[in-house]
Amino acid sequence: MDLRSLLAVLTVVVLLQLGFVCSASGNVVFKVQHKFAGRERSLSALKAHDARRHRRILSAVDLPLGGNGHPAEAGLYFAKIGLGNPPRDYYVQVDTGSDILWVNCVNCDKCPTKSDLGVKLTLYDPKSSASATRVYCDDEFCAAAYNGVLQGCTKDLPCQYSVVYGDGSATAGFFVRDNLQFERVTGNLQTASANGSVVFGCGAKQSGELGTSSEALDGILGFGQANSSMISQLAAAGKVKKMFAHCLDNVNGGGIFAIGEVVSPKVNTTPMVANQPHYNVVMKEIEVGGNVLELPTDIFQTGDRKGTIIDSGTTLAYLPETVYESMMSKIVAQQSGLKLHTVEEQFMCFQYSGNVDDGFPVVKFHFEGSLTLSVYPHDYLFQIRDDIWCFGWQNSGMQSKDGRDMTLLGDLVLSNKLVLYDIENQAIGWTEYNCSSSIKVRDDSSGSVYSVGAHNVSAASHLMSGRILTFLLLLFAVFHRFS
Ligand SMILES: *[C@@H]1O[C@H](CO)[C@@H](O)[C@H](O)[C@H]1NC(C)=O
Ligand SMILES: *[C@@H]1O[C@H](CO)[C@@H](O)[C@H](O)[C@H]1NC(C)=O
Ligand SMILES: *[C@@H]1O[C@H](CO)[C@@H](O)[C@H](O)[C@H]1NC(C)=O
Ligand SMILES: *[C@@H]1O[C@H](CO)[C@@H](O)[C@H](O)[C@H]1NC(C)=O
Repeated sequence: MDLRSLLAVLTVVVLLQLGFVCSASGNVVFKVQHKFAGRERSLSALKAHDARRHRRILSAVDLPLGGNGHPAEAGLYFAKIGLGNPPRDYYVQVDTGSDILWVNCVNCDKCPTKSDLGVKLTLYDPKSSASATRVYCDDEFCAAAYNGVLQGCTKDLPCQYSVVYGDGSATAGFFVRDNLQFERVTGNLQTASANGSVVFGCGAKQSGELGTSSEALDGILGFGQANSSMISQLAAAGKVKKMFAHCLDNVNGGGIFAIGEVVSPKVNTTPMVANQPHYNVVMKEIEVGGNVLELPTDIFQTGDRKGTIIDSGTTLAYLPETVYESMMSKIVAQQSGLKLHTVEEQFMCFQYSGNVDDGFPVVKFHFEGSLTLSVYPHDYLFQIRDDIWCFGWQNSGMQSKDGRDMTLLGDLVLSNKLVLYDIENQAIGWTEYNCSSSIKVRDDSSGSVYSVGAHNVSAASHLMSGRILTFLLLLFAVFHRFS
């Protein structure tokens, strides 16, 4: 896989592409390319829909989670959702770096049919769902997604989508509207099925990793803040608040994923950078083992293709070159005898037999609003063989031109913390947490506070057993998804 393609990632190039025969003049291709998905699109239809609502019955939703963040194992987290009527189960990667939900559809080109993640893959078939309807070009959703009704648009032209992820993998297909079944929190560790109608992509063609990976899933559930995301659609329909939290369990696998207002644990937050499509926050300083790194001040600037992005769909953590070099030299400074070697041109690895938490320093990121994020050696180092460890930190300067100045914090950094995304108040925060335990959420309709527990979706017993993996497999997992 071409590593240089990776950092296009950072900003998730969402490419909405419609190829329609529009007029007598022939085959006109509309290419609406959004450098930043979502933000530039006006989903005014959803707004109008929202305004028409009077009664809001806001539920807390419990999304069963599986997977883990170990680069040498699954390297990703996924959730189980139900689609259609009767509903069938789909396993989708949870990705806070992209904006739509899509699943592999019947008759699709290069869709995976089996997975080593221990989940049964299912191709979605609109024809076998009583509640499925196609979304056509003149649909409110489509018009909003493309900033207005497209020229030459007719009732029977399907509304198509195409997303290119940062690792170069891509999915294309057409939008459908169907029933989404989710677990509404109804009591302590108790849920009941509820549903809502959402528009999602029916994948007709996958390419790159999405079509070939052994760690395949049914699709991707984009948890971005654009109006096209599932959470935005459910919020516009008055079903949920635009707030969610995840606790990705890197120790036992799975974890907690809940939509709704978290009341416990208490979490300090930092403001999201305004007018950014992704969950972008302002970093102020980096400490390694208690020493602040001396860095050029402009390194922490925010804006287009700058700043720090929180992205659950990325496995590792990517730092601008200056930051990477300064941090790495501080980290290894204590270990004079360490011999670093590069593996697959990408990973800095070394032999070490002691306890890494004793031998290496804690990295602490400081954010606006006095929020800090500590990353321990056992988080940023991963073991590929008994005594061989590799750094999860990556140099984004080695990737593409585009992502050079960005910091991208993926599962490596986000695991074992409760991470809260409050879209309504444009804030994001986290706290160290035991992701095998439970959190408390408020059910908006009754005002009651209920606990939501951890899940570990998957039947794969062989998944975690293989600690000794070839580098080929390792790379597969690491670059699995990057969005
Ligand atoms: C998204 O929808 C909200 C209300 O539902 C609206 O206020 C906002 O303007 C919309 N954003 C875009 C980019 O369309
Ligand atoms: C969706 O929810 C409604 C109301 O609770 C229920 O009557 C219906 O059976 C549900 N549909 C599906 C497919 O679960
Ligand atoms: C985390 O929580 C689980 C479930 O409550 C508990 O069994 C486990 O011991 C806890 N782990 C730690 C490190 O406290
Ligand atoms: C979670 O699932 C994985 C894969 O099935 C398994 O190896 C692991 O032991 C499970 N963890 C717990 C706490 O059940």
